[in-house]
Amino acid sequence: MITLTYTFRSPGRINLIGEHTDYNGGYVLPAAIDRYTYLTFQESDHFESYTHDLNKSVKFSIDGQRERDTWANYVKGAIFHLTKYVKKPIRPFKIDVSSTLPIGAGLSSSASLMVGIIYAISKIERLDLDRERIAQIAHEAENEFVGVNCGIMDQYAVALAKKDNFLLIDATSGLYEYVSATGFPKITIVDSGVKHELASGGYNTRRNECARATEIMGMQFREITLDLIESKRKDLGENVYKRAKHVVEENQRVLDTIAAIKEKDWQKVGDLVKKSHESLKNLFEVSTDEIDFLVDRINALEDVYGARMIGGGFGGSIIVISKSDVSLQLKEIRDDYRHEFGIEMKFYPVKLSSGVRKITHF
Ligand code: GLA
Repeated sequence: MITLTYTFRSPGRINLIGEHTDYNGGYVLPAAIDRYTYLTFQESDHFESYTHDLNKSVKFSIDGQRERDTWANYVKGAIFHLTKYVKKPIRPFKIDVSSTLPIGAGLSSSASLMVGIIYAISKIERLDLDRERIAQIAHEAENEFVGVNCGIMDQYAVALAKKDNFLLIDATSGLYEYVSATGFPKITIVDSGVKHELASGGYNTRRNECARATEIMGMQFREITLDLIESKRKDLGENVYKRAKHVVEENQRVLDTIAAIKEKDWQKVGDLVKKSHESLKNLFEVSTDEIDFLVDRINALEDVYGARMIGGGFGGSIIVISKSDVSLQLKEIRDDYRHEFGIEMKFYPVKLSSGVRKITHF
């Protein structure tokens, strides 16, 4: 008997600008990168998943029960929610997972894995699901099965990204459009080595604070103006006031960034990126001393247009936009960082890649 195998490649994502705006019905500007989760599916008589990174194998059945193993829940949750959506059982597979995408570095390794699994099964089983639907099922699975109350940015980026483009998503309507990155400067990702954990971090607290802001002001973020926030400062209280100000200003920064990209005004893009970081640090308060140390040092480099933290915060990665290759300077910063915090940072240049797809070999 021949056992059929199928291989898929699912990217990680970066976000140029628009942080903590997606779950507030705002704009985000992510892109997929050339760092991937690779998934090989082999027909089997039971569900089993093996991950090379952790050298771990887990057998499971498809039901609503959480596994003790956190990692297995991403795989199982994706299949469970797909089953719920298509309303029929999925035949079992052995799924082999390997990755060039760092885990827990704020580059959406979980969305990469879950979107990858749902996309792969929908292709193998000819379920005829479009990419938005796949992103939505993965999003529901991450919220309900894994228990992380994230927005839609990561899943949309992994499912819908196009090579050499950013993806503008309007999280109110779910509509999106591509923004060409032709001529865009070099992008380097700096991994701070501080693991960011959405599930246990302050992410859900920030979400609640933002929800509180819309409750108090009686309208959605897209209708809220800075003047209104100022006039309601007392009612909002200092923390909620700061969170709301960040969201409204960050939404505008996304639109300004798109205009600057279209004009190829890279200095303007860099300045907006720097402003976004300042706001995430001072108003949204999701940065850390380690990340701020790195961002400050990198932003002081001559050839850097701008750098900022990306993703949920509390650790993770930094995006660096630069005129030229800044590897030598980053090596020096890496040594100083090790000396200051005793943590190893890594960096690597990235290219904007396409969304999840089937491949034959890699
Ligand atoms: C995480 C979430 C996203 C988004 C960012 C913050 O990456 O998964 O949905 O909310 O944080 O912008």
